[in-house]
Amino acid sequence: MDINKYTPKFRIKNKDLLHLADLSPEEIFELLYTARSMKKKYKVGEITNMLRGKTVGLLFGNVSTRTRVSFELGIRQLGGDYIFLPKNETQLSRGESVKDTAAMLGRYGLSALVLRGFNDEELEEFAACADIPVVNGISDTSHPLQILSDLFTIWEKKGKLENLKLAYIGDGNNIANSLIIGCSKCDMNIAIASPSGYSPARSIVERGMQFGDILITDSVAEAVKDADIVYTDVFISMSDEDDEKKKAKLEKYRVTKGVMALAKEDALFMHCMPVRRGEEVSAEVADGPQSIMYDQAENRLHLNKAVLTLLTMGDK
Ligand code: CP
Ligand code: NVA
Repeated sequence: MDINKYTPKFRIKNKDLLHLADLSPEEIFELLYTARSMKKKYKVGEITNMLRGKTVGLLFGNVSTRTRVSFELGIRQLGGDYIFLPKNETQLSRGESVKDTAAMLGRYGLSALVLRGFNDEELEEFAACADIPVVNGISDTSHPLQILSDLFTIWEKKGKLENLKLAYIGDGNNIANSLIIGCSKCDMNIAIASPSGYSPARSIVERGMQFGDILITDSVAEAVKDADIVYTDVFISMSDEDDEKKKAKLEKYRVTKGVMALAKEDALFMHCMPVRRGEEVSAEVADGPQSIMYDQAENRLHLNKAVLTLLTMGDK
């Protein structure tokens, strides 16, 4: 479906945002159109107070720069308030159950809860036990907010999503998983190049294949051929142990100028950040003219505002 032919209602049925697999293409488009509208309003200084009188809980189990700052500022820009809760300063760190934590948080008047660094089972349990919207701010298997922001950025830069080809090079991690689902739901073509043993999980690939063709290969050249976008991420994620063997296997999957030259001439380079220059990408590509990683990071602000606005509009 062509996003440019879609008429947004600025509403979604979903009450939680755990994984992109839970969203229909239309719901993804609703979020992207809302992010676009948020950005326009922000740029002209228009007051947006969709969260007036509301407080959002930010329960973070791992470190963050972009996700934390874009939520904290985004919530303030929407006239709301937040409570930042490092997981290790809550009773969760001493064994209190997810069920009790989730059931109780809504009773204090929180309007939504953003969780970071929880596993899929815990996310599901939070969503089932909390009577407020629950948002996944990153897990070891997915990063839906990042990829929604990336789809918004691609739409801004290329003017469309449908039929674009995105090549992801590197570790088949949470970013790769969410790209597979997000891109295929938006009718983009996606190719993933990873060394053997580090491809995305088969279940994710099969899920994505319900929506479109996905190429899984160990050949960087095959993946980037005719690509409109080349995307990479760190070799070692927050949920991984440092692993020299893995880094050595991924060495050939660094995005360099030579790799970019195999893609379309006007191809863009994307990275969710943080970046390790010289590891998954060379400095000249990360800081070069094709790189749009700072735009991706900037758009996290507008996308997060869109998510909180649409999820907190009705009752869960
Ligand atoms: N991309 C991203 O989620 O950045 P942070 O880890 O800094 O939040
Ligand atoms: N794959 C990375 C993404 C960071 C935004 C990680 O999970 O650490």
